[in-house]
Amino acid sequence: MGQQDLILGIETSCDDTSVALVAQDGTIAACETFNQFEIHAGYGGVFPELASRAHVQAILPAVDKVMAAVDHDRSRIKAIGVTRGPGLIGSLLVGVNAGQALGFAWDKPVYGINHLRGHLRSPDLEEKRIEYPAVMLLVSGGHTLLAYLANQSDVTLLGTTRDDSAGESYDKVARMIGLGMPGGPAIDKLAKTGKSVFDFPRPMMHQGYEFSFSGLKSSVARLLEKEPDCAKEDIATSFVDACLDVLEKKLRRAVDEYQPKSLVVVGGVSASPQLRAQVDAICTETGVKSCLPPLKWATDNAAMIALAAWDYVAKDLEPDTVPTPSLAVSAW
Ligand code: KG4
Ligand code: ZN
Repeated sequence: MGQQDLILGIETSCDDTSVALVAQDGTIAACETFNQFEIHAGYGGVFPELASRAHVQAILPAVDKVMAAVDHDRSRIKAIGVTRGPGLIGSLLVGVNAGQALGFAWDKPVYGINHLRGHLRSPDLEEKRIEYPAVMLLVSGGHTLLAYLANQSDVTLLGTTRDDSAGESYDKVARMIGLGMPGGPAIDKLAKTGKSVFDFPRPMMHQGYEFSFSGLKSSVARLLEKEPDCAKEDIATSFVDACLDVLEKKLRRAVDEYQPKSLVVVGGVSASPQLRAQVDAICTETGVKSCLPPLKWATDNAAMIALAAWDYVAKDLEPDTVPTPSLAVSAW
C-alpha cells in the first residue's frame, strides 16, 4: 500500500469540469479545470444540456492529466470526493458517475460532497487560514448566504437570498450592458472606469441577514429602457456600489453580533477586487481575521471539493454506499 496522501476531487456542478489531487493540509498536487465559457457564450447563460455534454467529453482527460502529475500512481489516492449537489442535475450526474466508476475500479471509498461545503473550505487551500468561530458569506452564481460557523462542521444558516444570487445579478447586469460571460469580472473591470452616479436600490439592506437582488437588477433594466445611451461604465460602478453596500452592511452586522475570530468570504464573487478590499477594510477595523480563498480557488474548482472530503476521512465517516446526486442546499 502506498502512502495514500492525496484525495482525488471531482467538481461538475455547473459549467466547470474540474479534477484535483489535494493533500490533507490543503497542498494542491494537481488541478485541471476546463471551463465552458465559449460553449455558452451565445445563450446568455449556462445551457444545461450543452454543459452535461461538455463534462462528458472533459472528465476523463481531466482525470488523466492530474494523475499524470503523480505518475499515475494510484496508491497515492486515499479516497475520491465528488460534488453531489446542489447544481445542474445532468452536470452532477457526470461527475458522480465518474467518481463512482473510479472508486469501483481503483477500490477507493467515494464521498459525496456538498458544493457549498467545498466553497466554505476554499480559504484553507494552500495554507490554513480559517480560525473558528467564523462568520461566512458565500456569494456565488448559484447562492448568496450568510452563516455562523462554531467550528468546521457546525454551520448555522443566518440568511439567504429570497430571489437572485449576487453573482447572478452581476451576470444579468453584464448581459444588459453588452458584456460577455462570465459577467462578474467584466463588470468589475468596467466599474473601475465609471462614476457612481445612479442611485440604485439597496434591497433589504437594513433588515436582518436575508438578501434580495432582483429589484436591483430590474432597476438597471428600467434605467436602460429610459436612457439607452447612458454611460455603461457608470452603470457598472453604480451597480457594484449598490451590491457591495448591501453585502458590507450584513457582514458588519454579523461581525458585530457574533464576534467571530474570522470573516470568511467565499464563492465566485469573492474574486471581486472591490469586495476583497471591502472585506479587508472591515477586518482591519474590527480586528477579525480576513479569510478569502486564494484568487485562483474563488470560483468553482475540484481542489476545494477534495479538501472538504478530507474532513470526512479525518472523522472516519463511512462514505455513502452509493453517493447520489443531491439538489439539497442544506445537506452540509
Ligand atoms: O462559485 P462560482 O464559480 O459558481 C457557483 O457556484 O455559482 O461563481 C460564479 C459566479 C458568477 O456569477 C460570476 O459572474 C461570479 O461568480 N464572479 C465574479 C467574479 N468572478 C466570478 N463576480 C464578481 N467579480 C469577479 N471577479
Ligand atoms: Zn460554486
